[in-house]
Amino acid sequence: MIDLHCHLLPGIDDGSPDMQVSLAMARAAVADGIVITACTPHIYPGLYDNSRQTIEWSIEALRNALAEEEIPLQLVIGADTHLVPGLLGRLRSGAVPTLAGSAYLLLEPAHHVAPPGFEQSVFELVAAGYIPVITHPERLSWIGDHYDVFKRLVERGAWMQITSGSLTGRFGSDARYWAERMLDEGLVHLLATDAHGLGNRPPLLAEGRHAAEKWVGAEEAVRLVLDRPQCIIDDLAPSSTPPPGGKSKNRPGWLGRLFGR
Ligand SMILES: [Fe+2]
Repeated sequence: MIDLHCHLLPGIDDGSPDMQVSLAMARAAVADGIVITACTPHIYPGLYDNSRQTIEWSIEALRNALAEEEIPLQLVIGADTHLVPGLLGRLRSGAVPTLAGSAYLLLEPAHHVAPPGFEQSVFELVAAGYIPVITHPERLSWIGDHYDVFKRLVERGAWMQITSGSLTGRFGSDARYWAERMLDEGLVHLLATDAHGLGNRPPLLAEGRHAAEKWVGAEEAVRLVLDRPQCIIDDLAPSSTPPPGGKSKNRPGWLGRLFGR
């Protein structure tokens, strides 16, 4: 499996506090079946002032430590990018890294209030040639009143990333409900851990993949944690990647049922 959202780097955001925890998280990820992790610390000007440069330095230090400890986890660069004014310019200048240098980037909306102009900002990124991957929409407190926004964003080219732990109840019943509904309606492109440590938010993806099977089937569940993440690392265009599947979406209509298809 490939985990494209993980706060694994030590001491540069609210994720792993130090190298020992990062190494323990890496061991847990490998034991879970993860072979590649994207290091995606927050970039939130004024709170987490990370940049491509600080993230690259930190990845290099962690790579060396992983090699010393013989932990077979590959790392790629990324960032948990908050939607702030000026983001497009910082992406273009290279100050904000995309996922593994591809056209895809993690985009984190505000948790408790629908950001003004959110939809328009995402469309502008799409128009500029980027593919925003919206992080954990199922955990946003405002999704219930704005569910159609996420449907429209998917139609217009954004991707959706659900948190593995949401499907197992780690984030409560609301997050679980929206995660399952989005899966069932074929709106989810990726599952990722969004791990911040070893406690409440561990780097475990297999439990989410297993839980997703109920809503999308085993084949699509693998696409959520392996095929589409690999497509991102290979920087394939969305048109060359398998479209998201869900049981509702694929459920045959009355004609299909009539003719057995
Ligand atoms: Fe995150």
